[in-house]
Amino acid sequence: MPENYANAFTMHTHTCGELRRENIGETVTLCGWVSRRRDHGGLIFVDLRDRWGITQVVFDPDHAGEYFTLGEKMRPEWCIKITGFVRERPEDTANPNLPTGEVDVVITACEILNESVTPPFPLDDEIDTDETTRMKWRYLDMRRKPVAEALRLRDTVTWAIRNALHERLFTEIETPILGKSTPEGARDFIVPSRTNPGKFYALPQSPQLFKQLTQIGGMERYYQIARCFRDEDLRADRQPEFTQVDIEMSYVTDEDVMELMEGVFQEVFEAVGITDISFPLDRVQYKDAMEYYGTDRPDRRFDMKLVDLSDIVRGCGFKVFSRALENGGVVKAINAKGAGDWPRAQIDKLGDLAVKWGAKGMAWIQFRSEGKVNSPITKFFSEDELEAMKTALNVEPGDLVMFGADDASVVNEVLGQMRLHMAKAMNLVPEGTHDLCWVVNFPMFRYDDEEKRYVAEHHPFTRVRDEDLDKIEDNPMACGSYSYDIVMDGFEMGGGTIRIHTPELQRRILRRIGMTDEQIDEQFGFLITALGFGAPPHGGIALGLDRLCMLIGGYPSIRDVIAFPKTSSGADPMTGAPGEVSRRQLKEANIRIDL
Ligand code: AMO
Ligand code: AMP
Repeated sequence: MPENYANAFTMHTHTCGELRRENIGETVTLCGWVSRRRDHGGLIFVDLRDRWGITQVVFDPDHAGEYFTLGEKMRPEWCIKITGFVRERPEDTANPNLPTGEVDVVITACEILNESVTPPFPLDDEIDTDETTRMKWRYLDMRRKPVAEALRLRDTVTWAIRNALHERLFTEIETPILGKSTPEGARDFIVPSRTNPGKFYALPQSPQLFKQLTQIGGMERYYQIARCFRDEDLRADRQPEFTQVDIEMSYVTDEDVMELMEGVFQEVFEAVGITDISFPLDRVQYKDAMEYYGTDRPDRRFDMKLVDLSDIVRGCGFKVFSRALENGGVVKAINAKGAGDWPRAQIDKLGDLAVKWGAKGMAWIQFRSEGKVNSPITKFFSEDELEAMKTALNVEPGDLVMFGADDASVVNEVLGQMRLHMAKAMNLVPEGTHDLCWVVNFPMFRYDDEEKRYVAEHHPFTRVRDEDLDKIEDNPMACGSYSYDIVMDGFEMGGGTIRIHTPELQRRILRRIGMTDEQIDEQFGFLITALGFGAPPHGGIALGLDRLCMLIGGYPSIRDVIAFPKTSSGADPMTGAPGEVSRRQLKEANIRIDL
């Protein structure tokens, strides 16, 4: 077995990242792309680049002979193969920034494997080419080191996960892509069936039901690196197709699943050299996350928690606050330490943002560092009220306090966003720091105002907490669930639940979210039937692999860790997908376009 597979099964003897002083005098063959070519009065220098690095090769008329003319016409991105001998570079021409910088290869033979047209943008590490152009030419973009590194990071992460799960006796099982709709809260992508006219498959939003069925099938520990499809509005952390690390286990509690995952995370972080996360991870109660961070995915890498001032300001003279409380709302605030001297215009901009996020306005108090207090609302409060607020918010000179008064959901949303905005604006999170925590005990249901019905907070296969089973019909909002999200750096990186494993409870939950028995039987009859065959108690989780890799690598978007991502409108600028299909294809699928 060769010591180094990089040079096995290939026409080169060495990679472009490999040659060192020790190789001086050896005859070698390298393959790669012309990265740069410099003509130096009779000598032609070429930076030859492959996946492993860059090596300088030299066309010297004394050694290159008939091949010298090839050196003269060579252009960037031509794919070539050279043979030559390794030579020490004269000291003043050595390149200390390059691992191969102490040597070069004097060419004695050269073959042009393929010429290249001029690339649409320079394939340098640092470029400012816009993302859509880079996506249109993604295969060229991929020749750039940062892109290739992101894909390799993803491979390292995936490999560590597979390894950890395999060690823990999980079986990797593939589930269908052409299936029936599994509701995860997004729209389905649908595929017409030619052989069943008028019928459609749905692409899986997740393998949720199939993975549960593997447990009823006795597989006990299932996992899959599963492609999922969701037709939803795209953002930096969302793609229409993405990858989940999907896991399901039998005879487990929520604590068992979390314990398993912590072991897996430890192995992943070890593989990628992240050392600032300590285990076991904190479990943050859902209601505390909402209370203190205004969101179920708290970024705990900085403080600035939301503080509830409702009791302090209940009887105050400021109508905005007292009215919000009379209407059943809350008054909360955050203290942005260090923003107390911001100019008025900047604070007004924050107010505009708050309104954009759904607030009716944003009251504020500026505690200037020289001691002066500046605010349009302090006049409405008594000394005692002001003092109590300052104590609750730990106010010091130099602080900016921002208030929200409204329904709890609005206040949490607005102050939660403001907290993140201020952290970014004030650079509160040092680059490369990470925080990982569980958020647990989500409510089972939430009320959907648009659909005018209760919907499952996670999904309707989630088990209601035992102590709440008698509240499902009459007081659904009081029902908790066995549920856990894994939150990394303020992103929902994964989520899971313990499942319902009896047919009766499954039917009750589906009824509670507004389904008739007929609909239940039609859509989920197979699941309810399966649960009737001694289904074991089971539960699991799914991680967003793209998000995990994005966060580990510190990338701004999941597109950075996807080989061929789509734009925010779901298009692929390279292939032109989605595209039109022929009339014949439409006819075969029994589809008529009606635009
Ligand atoms: P959920 O819907 O929370 O749970 O999805 C699990 C994780 O998948 C990632 N994710 C996405 N990543 C990129 N683009 C998207 N459009 C996208 N949507 C979701 C997130 C998310 O945390 N079946 C359940 C899991 C379970 O209960 O076991 C499920 O799919 O990181
Ligand atoms: P007003 O009395 O409407 O002029 O508001 C006085 C201050 O309170 C202004 O700074 C508003 O931006 C702010 N404000 C108004 N409504 C709210 C609200 N719901 N929450 C927080 N601040 C508000």
